[in-house]
Amino acid sequence: MKKLLIINGPNLNLLGKREPNIYGSLSFTDFLDELKDKYPEVEISHYQSNIEGEIIDKLHEAGFGTCDGIILNAAAYTHTSVGIGDAVAAIETPVVEVHISNTFDREEYRHISYVSPNAKGVIVGFGLQSYELAIQSF
Ligand code: DQA
Repeated sequence: MKKLLIINGPNLNLLGKREPNIYGSLSFTDFLDELKDKYPEVEISHYQSNIEGEIIDKLHEAGFGTCDGIILNAAAYTHTSVGIGDAVAAIETPVVEVHISNTFDREEYRHISYVSPNAKGVIVGFGLQSYELAIQSF
């Protein structure tokens, strides 16, 4: 059974309530239940943190053989965190970067990603379906 870990960064715990015009009105918990039902052949786990260092620790923990792939939405840290970018480069497990919104259609500071150069691939702008496309990519 393939094991995938979804790591969500800051403010993504508020999905469903947060700016629904951009991020939709479904909570991540409800979406995750749908994903697990749809892909019973994949073991999908989820970790969310609003703290940069905790996300780095999780990447280290999952990055050497405990899972087959990581789906990372580092949220705002995508655009600021050299540390998260370095962690993605440091680990062995492939990381697919995802974003719910099309970050290239938004403010210029969202056009930069410290994750992308070290990711296996990037999926941007398909709403929550970005996560599903990332699962399919594995
Ligand atoms: C986001 C895009 C980021 O720019 C933003 O800071 C987020 C969410 C997305 O999934 O669209 O928090 O990563």
